[in-house]
Amino acid sequence: MNVHRGDIRASLASELPAGTFICRLDEVPPTGGHVVRLLRGGIEISLIVLRQHETVRCFLNRCPHLGSELARLDRHLYLEPGVSIECNVHYAVFRWADGVCVRGDCQGESLTGVPVTVAADGVRVGEWPRDAKDA
Ligand code: FES
Repeated sequence: MNVHRGDIRASLASELPAGTFICRLDEVPPTGGHVVRLLRGGIEISLIVLRQHETVRCFLNRCPHLGSELARLDRHLYLEPGVSIECNVHYAVFRWADGVCVRGDCQGESLTGVPVTVAADGVRVGEWPRDAKDA
């Protein structure tokens, strides 16, 4: 099944509204990543939270190549902090900053980003761009 990326973002924006709690900040290594699974309406949503000290990013844990998780557990995350994260199925490499695939079978495609904010109690979903909700 070919799932359009805009559909995925629109669905995520509806399942993970702004303010949704993702994880505590201390669950994410200061220069590393953390796999988080959230149950929303009976559906499991797998996310990867990346942190480089105070800068936190989040992507849907779904490789655009075949739709597999990039990693199932934290210890399976292949990453170079601040530079890239690698899918551990066929080793596509994605840029840390924006999730664009720079090497591998889905070069030019990208991970689906989830906006985040760091609140007092941890990492929460931030405001989705308007086009994500309208997609
Ligand atoms: S599923 Fe990720 S590179 Fe193939």
